[in-house]
Amino acid sequence: MTATKNILITGGAGFIGSHVVRLFVNKYPDYHIINLDKLTYAGNLANLKDIEDKPNYTFVKADICDYDKMLELIREYEVGGIIHLAAESHVDRSIKDPFTFARTNVMGTLSLLEAARQNWNGDYEGKRFYHISTDEVYGTLEFDGTFFTETTSYDPHSPYSASKAGSDHFVRAYHDTYGLPTIVTNCSNNYGPYQFPEKLIPLFINNIRKEKPLPVYGKGENVRDWLYVVDHARAIDLIFHEGKLADTYNIGGFNEWKNIDLIKVIIKTVDKLLGNPEGTSEKLITYVTDRAGHDLRYAIDSTKLKNELGWEPSLQFEEGIEKTVQWYLDNQEWMDQITSGDYEKYYEMMYKER
Ligand code: NAD
Ligand code: TYD
Repeated sequence: MTATKNILITGGAGFIGSHVVRLFVNKYPDYHIINLDKLTYAGNLANLKDIEDKPNYTFVKADICDYDKMLELIREYEVGGIIHLAAESHVDRSIKDPFTFARTNVMGTLSLLEAARQNWNGDYEGKRFYHISTDEVYGTLEFDGTFFTETTSYDPHSPYSASKAGSDHFVRAYHDTYGLPTIVTNCSNNYGPYQFPEKLIPLFINNIRKEKPLPVYGKGENVRDWLYVVDHARAIDLIFHEGKLADTYNIGGFNEWKNIDLIKVIIKTVDKLLGNPEGTSEKLITYVTDRAGHDLRYAIDSTKLKNELGWEPSLQFEEGIEKTVQWYLDNQEWMDQITSGDYEKYYEMMYKER
């Protein structure tokens, strides 16, 4: 096995990571995929039930901040490729607990970078450190038709986006200072199966099912740019194999939605699939206090990725959202398992504060 075929994927038990692990394990039987995850509240091995017994897959429970462990794992598995997704990922949690975000997202990324550098020791042939970031590092846009491009200056506003920006800077610094073979991508909001139900789309599907209030922040006028998670995983596969080292690519589907319009599509789709008359669940919409520092609009320009590597999203939004709602309705056991216990208490506390 050559070094690049031993691939460490961090955060593989989370939402996007589980789709990336599944894609790599199934598509590349000659690779060894090592999924490293701390299994925080957001990590769930049930996301990977279908591939957990494959011979080319290994799960390791570890914290990316544990530098000695990172050194040891990269050495033990002769890791040549790293796809780094492990992170604290929810803006509302970052407002409550910024330290955890700085620790995992900044210090954890640094610990992984340094462990890769020490192990690879200047032999960078066939090696690759691919860092998964977000469009939120670019800050916010007005309603003026402009987009985030790869050269947009960083201007993060939340502790989450500030911590992701910090990690991106460290990754680029490791290339510029030590020559580490890095790539960074910045993607728009993802949706699809296995997303933790603190994020807008799965939360609202679950609340409609349980006839609970749908908390719309502010006036629901903020705009997000949505991409089906499997299309993100396809982009990661392509960029990992064919992306230019030291480069940055934006990933997005030119699919902007005002929150309130998106929420109405979710309500319509859930009601339709549950057999409710149209509009039944609109009464659940509840306007609540806005998120502090709430970015107005995100919109990604992914022209570079299309022109240089030929990537385009494969799903139209209407199809993606229907598939997604159907998946959550078909997998209520998955949802009930992760929302029982501590999470339910956390959610009630967050909801009461609004
Ligand atoms: P997620 O919260 O669903 O999953 C994160 C995973 O990382 C979990 O499995 C968790 O257990 C693990 N993790 C957390 N701290 C860890 C630590 N210290 N050590 C090891 N593992 C740890 O997040 P997601 O939505 O799948 O996002 C994955 C990555 O993609 C993140 O880096 C995020 O910033 C980025 N991203 C997310 C989106 C989105 O819309 N969800 C968009 C663009 C970029
Ligand atoms: P979210 O899924 O948390 O992603 P992000 O903040 O990373 O974009 O939120 C998406 C949008 O939905 C964002 O503008 C905040 C809004 N939102 C609500 O209005 N209500 C909610 O309960 C949640 C979780 C989000």
